[in-house]
Amino acid sequence: MRVIGVESSCDETAVALICSERGLLSHRIHSQIELHQEWGGVVPELASRDHIRRVLPMLAEVLGEAGLQQADIDGVAYTAGPGLIGALLVGACIGRSLAFAWGVPAVGIHHLEGHLLAPLLEAEGPAFPFLALLVSGGHTMLVQVHGLGEYQILGESLDDAAGEAFDKTAKMMGLGYPGGPALARLAASGRAGRFRLPRPMLDRPGFDFSFSGLKTAAVLALREAGDDPAARAGLAADFEAAIVDTLITKTLRALDHCGLDTLVVAGGVGANRRLREMLKAAAAARGARVYYPRPEFCTDNAAMIALAGLKRLERGERAGQAIHARARWPLDELRPPPH
Ligand code: KG4
Ligand code: ZN
Repeated sequence: MRVIGVESSCDETAVALICSERGLLSHRIHSQIELHQEWGGVVPELASRDHIRRVLPMLAEVLGEAGLQQADIDGVAYTAGPGLIGALLVGACIGRSLAFAWGVPAVGIHHLEGHLLAPLLEAEGPAFPFLALLVSGGHTMLVQVHGLGEYQILGESLDDAAGEAFDKTAKMMGLGYPGGPALARLAASGRAGRFRLPRPMLDRPGFDFSFSGLKTAAVLALREAGDDPAARAGLAADFEAAIVDTLITKTLRALDHCGLDTLVVAGGVGANRRLREMLKAAAAARGARVYYPRPEFCTDNAAMIALAGLKRLERGERAGQAIHARARWPLDELRPPPH
């Protein structure tokens, strides 16, 4: 089966083509970062308009690179939520309409299911069941993944997501948008240890997170650092360390709680080097193995949507003719496909 995936839930437009036998055949990602940069964050209406301009030309490129044509496609998967509703509707309208025009089935995919399954795009991917740490701009969650469509949320952020905390602190430090990668780069050049930042919620049982207090502590520390470059770099390092420590401690607790030895890290913050290295070492020390998508598939992409779509279509799931998208869509409402 060959499936086209379309992702347009936020500020990346992406199209991918996956094959059940040969894996990912081709894919494209266009980031709208430059478009939104001057506004310091994503402007929903601009995002929707840009998706409209780009999806079909990208589809032509993806088919061309794979040497395939419309008639070779057996299904279409599109991100149906959660995300910006206007942006989602662009991908949903185009995805559903293409499937209708081509006479093939369509399926609407939950964006976070895409992130959870992204490590399966790699040659040596994990097998079910596994624990997933999902850390993106919009979500921070620990999820026990029993199988396709069987997701049990163990804990999540009660306020800001980890990526959001990175972005807000980076913005405050004048590092631009999106700030996560810029703050991580600054942290790499700084020496940690000067600023005592909190590790929120570590003293409480359970697997929930909270990052808004950390952000407030960073505001105060920034006043202390002033314009001194070394102090600012040190603050970035301390901030990154506080987030990474918190994520790692709760994740190890959850691994013990579930009795699992397979961990998946997904979502944009999963591209953070410090998190990747420290989590790998900490997990290995307890005999667990960590799986990451390659960095380009940590952030938003269509390969993960095509993969989730392929798996659901193969097992008989079919979307109706209606065009359907949801800005809010709790992950644990998902169900396994029919077969
Ligand atoms: O998954 P994603 O691409 O979009 C959402 O669905 O949210 O995640 C984007 C988030 C942003 O907050 C970005 O700042 C963060 O991931 N991010 C990072 C790094 N790369 C991306 N945060 C920390 N370190 C990084 N290297
Ligand atoms: Zn995402």
